[in-house]
Amino acid sequence: MRADHSKHTTFGAGLSRRRLLLTGVGLVVAGVLPRTARAQAEAQRLIASPGRAQVAPAGYPQTEVWAYDGVVPGPTLRLRQGERLDLVVENRLEEPTTIHWHGIRLPNEMDGVAHLTQAPIQPGESFHYSFDCPDAGTFWYHPHFRSFEQVERGLAGALIVEEAEPPQVDRDLLWVLDDWRLTEEAAIAEDFGAFHDISHAGRLGNSATINGRSPEPLAVRPGERLRLRLVNVANARVFGLNFEGHAPSIIAWDGQPVAPHGLPDGRLMLGPGMRADLIIDMTGGPNETFAVTDSFYPNQTYRLVDIAYEAEVVREESLGAVPSLPANPVAEPDLEAAERHDLIFAGGMMGGMTGAELDGRQVSPRELMQHGLAWTVNGVAAHDHDHRPMLSLDLGRSYVLTLRNDTAWPHPIHLHGHVFRVLSRNGRPTPHGEWQDTVLLMPQEEVEIAFVADNPGDWMLHCHILEHQLGGMSGVLRVA
Ligand code: C2O
Ligand code: CU
Repeated sequence: MRADHSKHTTFGAGLSRRRLLLTGVGLVVAGVLPRTARAQAEAQRLIASPGRAQVAPAGYPQTEVWAYDGVVPGPTLRLRQGERLDLVVENRLEEPTTIHWHGIRLPNEMDGVAHLTQAPIQPGESFHYSFDCPDAGTFWYHPHFRSFEQVERGLAGALIVEEAEPPQVDRDLLWVLDDWRLTEEAAIAEDFGAFHDISHAGRLGNSATINGRSPEPLAVRPGERLRLRLVNVANARVFGLNFEGHAPSIIAWDGQPVAPHGLPDGRLMLGPGMRADLIIDMTGGPNETFAVTDSFYPNQTYRLVDIAYEAEVVREESLGAVPSLPANPVAEPDLEAAERHDLIFAGGMMGGMTGAELDGRQVSPRELMQHGLAWTVNGVAAHDHDHRPMLSLDLGRSYVLTLRNDTAWPHPIHLHGHVFRVLSRNGRPTPHGEWQDTVLLMPQEEVEIAFVADNPGDWMLHCHILEHQLGGMSGVLRVA
């Protein structure tokens, strides 16, 4: 495994230097050391500590953040499919932490959920994470302890598992999308877990960043084919991206290959926790500029970043059809034999919730609010470290879950330890049956997912709007 600290080279620096660096990393690290030598090498360390970063645009002061290895986002961890991630995480924060490896199908004790799969890593202590990465794709890592604050302060990074034979592209780029709530002095606003955020859309910020920085134009060349990996690490912001003048193809959702297809309604919808891999042919002409806009929230469209063409044409002829990624070794659910369950997500403002179960007792919405809670799954509001399973699944059996969003808000629902096929939305089969680990449910939407419960342990299922998770929209599936 290697940690790539050169991620900012995809921005700002001259194109040719960037290309060299990216190529260089691939050659030196993936190519030269024999596999066994790499596996036996001493585990690398990743340090969580306070730090500073230029999050706001130039001209503003630096922001005090919490960072992995001093950078925001954390270093991009790169492995090849089937390789083992071996990493000692050292906690130099003043509070406990953990790391969850979002989307990786790993053994339960490596899943990084504080109080469920491991004890929190105390300040000054460390924890050795070690697991194989069975699936190629775009994943990410973040704390699973007070994540509504720790992720917001900057603790998040990408984890890229490379295919044995990646598709041919000119450049493989990563955009870690984030959204920060900054004060005038570019400090992170300290109102973490405010009840208004819990009970409404989550903590929406005022400063979108790409790879931890205020977006600078992406320099491209006419004729280039790019692979663009997007990771939404924001606490709450859903991105709905339009690529003006371009026709990107989605080749993977949440790291899992999908038959290449265009953006539905021309927009890439990416809820918190979600990833997408795109192939974009740069069909613009020399010196042209195009906008990438985010139009998810009504009447709040803004220009996220520009695509700025340089003069030099890379190729005149088109590259032809977008290649598909090779499938990952995910078990196919048996839909005939599958056992079915419903999960109903309720609560929030404008939701008309009548009551909830809290710590095994029926309580009124008012009492729920007094505990800082606003949401339920199947009538239960998850509280503190109450990790009693809401469903027990048989190891090896196929399941179809109907996820119903009975609220006025969108919710990206994430399942740990597994990936699932999205079978239908509002009763209509999805055209691609995409594999995902986080599925965005729009208000009042009903989505069917299917998977084989093939990974034993207690696994979280929760909304990845971190304030909703904090506010009760969370539960545990036991696979045994
Ligand atoms: Cu990305 Cu339970 O989290
Ligand atoms: Cu939610």
